[in-house]
Amino acid sequence: LMADSLFIINNYAREYFTDTLFNKEEGQNIGLSYFEERGFTEETIKKFQLGYCLNTFDAFAKSALDKGYNLEYLQKTGLVTIRNDQPADNYRGRVIFPIHNQSGKILGFGARILGAKSDRAPKYINSPENEIYVKSRVLYGTYFARHAIDKQNECLLVEGYTDVISLHQAGVENVVASSGTSLTQDQLRLIKKYTNNLTILYDGDSAGVKAALRGLDMAIEEGLNVKLVLLPDKEDPDSYVQKIGAAAFREFIREHKQDFVLFKLQLSMQEAGSDSTKKSQLVNEIAETISKIDKAEDFTRQQDYIRQCSQLLHIDEQGLIQLVNKFIR
Ligand code: GTP
Ligand code: MN
Ligand code: MN
Ligand code: MN
Ligand code: MN
Repeated sequence: LMADSLFIINNYAREYFTDTLFNKEEGQNIGLSYFEERGFTEETIKKFQLGYCLNTFDAFAKSALDKGYNLEYLQKTGLVTIRNDQPADNYRGRVIFPIHNQSGKILGFGARILGAKSDRAPKYINSPENEIYVKSRVLYGTYFARHAIDKQNECLLVEGYTDVISLHQAGVENVVASSGTSLTQDQLRLIKKYTNNLTILYDGDSAGVKAALRGLDMAIEEGLNVKLVLLPDKEDPDSYVQKIGAAAFREFIREHKQDFVLFKLQLSMQEAGSDSTKKSQLVNEIAETISKIDKAEDFTRQQDYIRQCSQLLHIDEQGLIQLVNKFIR
């Protein structure tokens, strides 16, 4: 089967890249020291099966072809590309983050450039979509996080690979990453397999928060209870936990966790100011959002939102109930 072949090739590549990282001089001097400078321990590097792709034209491609792997399949995985009519390594000179499925098999890779990103090369190259890697269905870290998510009945959502890895190292294991894109329905359903409680950890100024806001109604329709933690400006979970340490970071999350629906309302209220047209527009929007919590089990939650939102907006609770009901019918 095609899918099996792609999994086998990805697994071979993973072994090849971790071997390079730990056992080849260039791997140690460049890849391993990069991870060490970022504060990742050897245990963490091994757990997440991080690797390094040599900065050569085709060392990996040659090795894989020698092993007998099919060139067409190697191209499908994105590991090998054709350059000047020759099979060439696509991730050369980059550190490698394997992306696992829920049972630990490798769907694809993220490959990060070393040092600052240049105009010519993107910071990360991710595997192309193929029979096994469908971006909209994957959340990075699910394999490592699923037991903790289940146990703590909460899933933390961050933006990047390194956020997931640093938080694990700090003992926060119920965390997955959207990998820089806005959440899809399939990803929300994946989370729902483990918990109803989603907490988004984004930097306050990021485009990520706006993307997350757009996904809010979808998350609520899926029955998720969404909370938000805004990190200080210019920090992501990786940089912040490395800066303040594990205990202080957990404390920060505890203290700054806020309800996402109420956050959205407060943000809209600030934007509307004293403009009455905008204000009635946002009352409608919030009523529509609340109306989506229509599951019998969440009736109390819906009532709580109606009470809290009517207080925030200084509007009559009965009036808001009627408006919410209009959207349900
Ligand atoms: P570091 O800079 O290594 O700390 O990574 P980061 O995760 O903090 O990066 P950033 O916040 O810029 O982006 C978040 C996530 O978006 C990354 O982990 C990637 O999954 C994705 N991403 C970032 N840059 C690129 C890019 O240039 N191309 C693609 N395809 N994805 C990217
Ligand atoms: Mn950011
Ligand atoms: Mn970002
Ligand atoms: Mn980062
Ligand atoms: Mn980041």
